[in-house]
Formats: sequence, structure tokens, C-alpha cells
Amino acid sequence: MRDITTGNIIADWKPEYAGKFGKETLKLRHTLHKSELFSDERLASLIEKADRTLYHVNTRASGPDGKKRRREGEFGDLSGMDVLKAVQKGDIWVNLRAPQLADPAYGDMLQDMYAEFEARVPGLQTFKHKTTILISSPNVYVPYHADVPGQMLWQVRGRKRVWLYPATEPFITRNAIEKLILGELHEVDMPYDESLDEKAFVTDLNPGEMLHWPLNWPHRVENHDCLNVSVTTEHYTSEIRTSYAVNYANGLLRKAGIANPKKQTGGLVAAAKTALAGAVKFSGLRSKAEKPYVIDFAVDPNGKNGVRNIEPYELRL
Ligand SMILES: [Fe+2]
Repeated sequence: MRDITTGNIIADWKPEYAGKFGKETLKLRHTLHKSELFSDERLASLIEKADRTLYHVNTRASGPDGKKRRREGEFGDLSGMDVLKAVQKGDIWVNLRAPQLADPAYGDMLQDMYAEFEARVPGLQTFKHKTTILISSPNVYVPYHADVPGQMLWQVRGRKRVWLYPATEPFITRNAIEKLILGELHEVDMPYDESLDEKAFVTDLNPGEMLHWPLNWPHRVENHDCLNVSVTTEHYTSEIRTSYAVNYANGLLRKAGIANPKKQTGGLVAAAKTALAGAVKFSGLRSKAEKPYVIDFAVDPNGKNGVRNIEPYELRL
């Protein structure tokens, strides 16, 4: 039985938000934190059912250069409740992709979320919806980055602080956006500096609050001192698809030596670039073998930071 129905997720919509959708940062209230989809029992069951190719569990270790390095791990044969216990006291973030494959109720939730926006924003049509459930330890942070599709962040439990920056220089260059879309962005292409924070939109997200920001806006996130459960959703619109294709083609042109390709938002040139991007993408010209993940820890509620080391092995997802 569906426990959420259309019209019930977004709690404080005002008609004037319609014109701001996708153009400005929107912070809205929602009701997911009251849904039993996010009870300990449901989350534990989802963890137990998660296919190995659809979850990541990470922790951090100090590298030889003193920098924090991300490590990939596994749940092993722990119960979902023990995983939650480990996250509560550890230094871990759990990323459950496509939870609807393990439990279709999350698919209904995802469909309803976008149906509610489409019902409220005239002309809005979204597609390629994705959702991920994030369960993360107190004080965990997500470093400065930008994403390819349209993004929303829905806070269900705990509190986190979010910094959002416009998708313009000095926060991100067009070249960096192109590389992001080509899957070739490196940390040095989008360096974070504290001085950028002066112009950031900074807000705390409490349970029952969500954020939607404009396309490709850089952001970073820090949990407060409590366990966090959040949901991310991703979508495309025809504008986002055009922007993707133009950036993709411009990234290829720039690699071919064209210094500053124009960024069209529509018309014939955009259509030609969409065709170029599609032709290159589907020709498999740019497909390369994905690197395997090295899994070197297991979640352990009795271990330091909620983890224990295991014999490393490679996993291809
Ligand atoms: Fe993100």
C-alpha cells in the first residue's frame, strides 16, 4: 500500500515558487521525515536487501601526505540494525542507490516527488529520475563538487549545513563544467578555497526541509554532530538535456583545440551539438574500462570509527 500520495510531500508550496524552480535556490518544507519509509526498521531492511552493485559504504583514512583519503567498504554479513549502530557512532557514510529496486515503495515516493513539482510548476516535465538514500555519521562532510543532472537534497533525520555557490567563475569555470560532463573532472579543475564562502548561500537543513538549486551549482555539505538520513533526487528536463549536450560537445571541441566554444541554449547549433554529443557517446568512442573499487574495510559497530580492516579485494560495479 502506498503511504504517500501525490499532494502530500511538499508542505509549504507558494505559487511564486513556480517561476523560481531551477533558476534560484528553493528551500521548502516536506513530509518525508514523518514517513515510515525512513524508520530504523525500513532502513535496516533496505540495507539488508541492497544489491552489492547498488551501495557504497565509505570511511576516511589519512594518506601519507596528511590528506584524508576516501576508503570503500562492505556491510559483510552484518544486520541492517548493526550497520545503523555503526553509522551512529562511527565515521561512515552509506549511499543506497536506486532503493526502489529493493523496495518499490521508494519508487512510488520518487514518482510522487516529481509529480508534485510538475503539478505546481507550469510546463515542467522531468525525466530520468533517480534517488539515493544517504545515511551518514555525525560530522561527516561531502567536499566541494558539482553534479551533472538537476539535484535536490531532502533532509529526513539529523541536521546538516549546506553551502551553495553559483555555477559561474570563480566558483566553477565552463571548462570545469565541460570536464564534469565528459567525466574527466579532477580535483584541481575545481579547487575549493575558503574565500569562496563569502558569496555562498549557506543554510542548515533540518528534518522536513529540502533544497533544490540551479544546474551545476557547486556545493559542499557538513553534518552537524548527529546521525543524518537524507535523500537525494536527480532529474533531467529538456533544458538540462540541451545544456548537457552543448557542454559535452564543447568539451570535445575544446579538447580538439578550439579555445572557447560558445554555449548555446537552443537553436540549430545546439541541435547540431546535441547530435555530435549523441554520435560520440553512442559510438562508444569514449567508453573506457571503469576502474575497480578496492574494498578494504567492513562495517563493524565494535570497531574504531565503526569499521574494521579486511583483506583488500577488487570490486567492479
Ligand atoms: Fe552533490
